[in-house]
Amino acid sequence: MADPKKLFIKTYGCQMNVYDSERMAEAMGGAGYVETQSPDDADMILLNTCHIREKAAEKVYSELGRFRSLKDEKPDLKIGVAGCVAQAEGEEIMRRQPLVDMVVGPQSYHRLPQMEAKAREGKKALDTDFPLDDKFETLKNRPKAKRGPTAFLTVQEGCDKFCAFCVVPYTRGAEVSRPATRILDEARDLVERGVREITLLGQNVNAYHGEGPDGNDWSLARLVWALNDIDGLERIRFTTSHPNDMDDELIAAHGTCEKLMPYLHLPVQSGSDRILKRMNRKHTAEEYIRLIERIREARPDILMSGDFIVGFPEETEADFQATMDLIEEVKYGYAFSFKYSTRPGTPAAERAQLDEDVKSERLYRLQERITHHQRAIQDAMVGREVSVLFEKPGRLDGQMVGKSEYLHAVHVAESGLNPGDLARVRIIESGSNSLSGQVIGQGGS
Ligand code: 5AD
Ligand code: SF4
Repeated sequence: MADPKKLFIKTYGCQMNVYDSERMAEAMGGAGYVETQSPDDADMILLNTCHIREKAAEKVYSELGRFRSLKDEKPDLKIGVAGCVAQAEGEEIMRRQPLVDMVVGPQSYHRLPQMEAKAREGKKALDTDFPLDDKFETLKNRPKAKRGPTAFLTVQEGCDKFCAFCVVPYTRGAEVSRPATRILDEARDLVERGVREITLLGQNVNAYHGEGPDGNDWSLARLVWALNDIDGLERIRFTTSHPNDMDDELIAAHGTCEKLMPYLHLPVQSGSDRILKRMNRKHTAEEYIRLIERIREARPDILMSGDFIVGFPEETEADFQATMDLIEEVKYGYAFSFKYSTRPGTPAAERAQLDEDVKSERLYRLQERITHHQRAIQDAMVGREVSVLFEKPGRLDGQMVGKSEYLHAVHVAESGLNPGDLARVRIIESGSNSLSGQVIGQGGS
């Protein structure tokens, strides 16, 4: 038998791209490909791209340029661009970089094997449709490989919110929720393959409203409760959410649903009502803070995470200060912060832009405060007992590393632990990016 062909996938951007890359590898597995960790011995290279900020999109072109010598050496090598840059730029990619054989948008991954066949005939293949068939449905029934202890599971895709800075509604399309039965089947399948923790993914995951087995619309809270009943599944997370879609049921679930972890990523972007309005976020800073208070009433130890954009058009020093005040009030355990980046086709791209220096200086100040809180929250874990789901051996001999319920990385020096084990751990030290501790018992969540 001929050696299987090799596929190298490089993933940029969000966790949904990580999930999609796995699905692409499975789809190409059906066409005789196995994954390789290096582009050098690949027969096919896929870049799964991100278009959320300008830098992310530009990286794709510089990366593609680097494959020229590989293609010269191996003319049969097929190169594909997938993901949001593929969706946003389509044919333009092939014009700008003739090395590219295939351009496939996020809704068309199940058609990759046909596209590869076309590319083998020496033709260019482009598919950036939004087909009505469920790409995940066509992607299932692949060989059941063993999985690590944590997995992503896409439950919802696309967004109808149209924040003025964001390309997602254009690249990923309108909000679509997968039917609950399919999600539950996929979750059970993951658990059979060794998964203990599932992170539900969606660009607007808490707006989930998929068809339930009873024919009614299910909310995210309903779905979480149904997942909670799956034996062998120990932890549930979800990301990423819009504040306006945090309904009462979901807030309550944070206090009552045993497997739902005390960590919530809830982007706010700005603390200034004027800017929030110009961003089309449809809530005020005060409403956001009240919401977090309610979430903390339900689950007092919840660790909050957020996203921030600095230097949005018209942001004054006072607006920026309002964001700093909000940060001071919420105290995030994690946060992701970005300089505003103009995205062609979005409303804010048409507005007068701030100086790059102003953006950089604000980003620096904001990150300094966020790091301060992050550090303090991590350090406050010392002496506490947490539950750790172990994922892999650590860098040092005999070490295992996993995540606490709050998503902190935790190291222990302990023999006899395996990936997928859950243990109660007493935290003894807080390092630069992780905690270390001592196992005090098995189990936990
Ligand atoms: N510029 C900067 N950051 C952006 N984000 C989305 N669009 C832009 C943009 N044009 C950030 C937001 C969002 C996160 C995924 O990326 O903070 O929550
Ligand atoms: Fe983009 Fe999120 Fe706003 Fe949707 S809710 S437009 S994905 S930032």
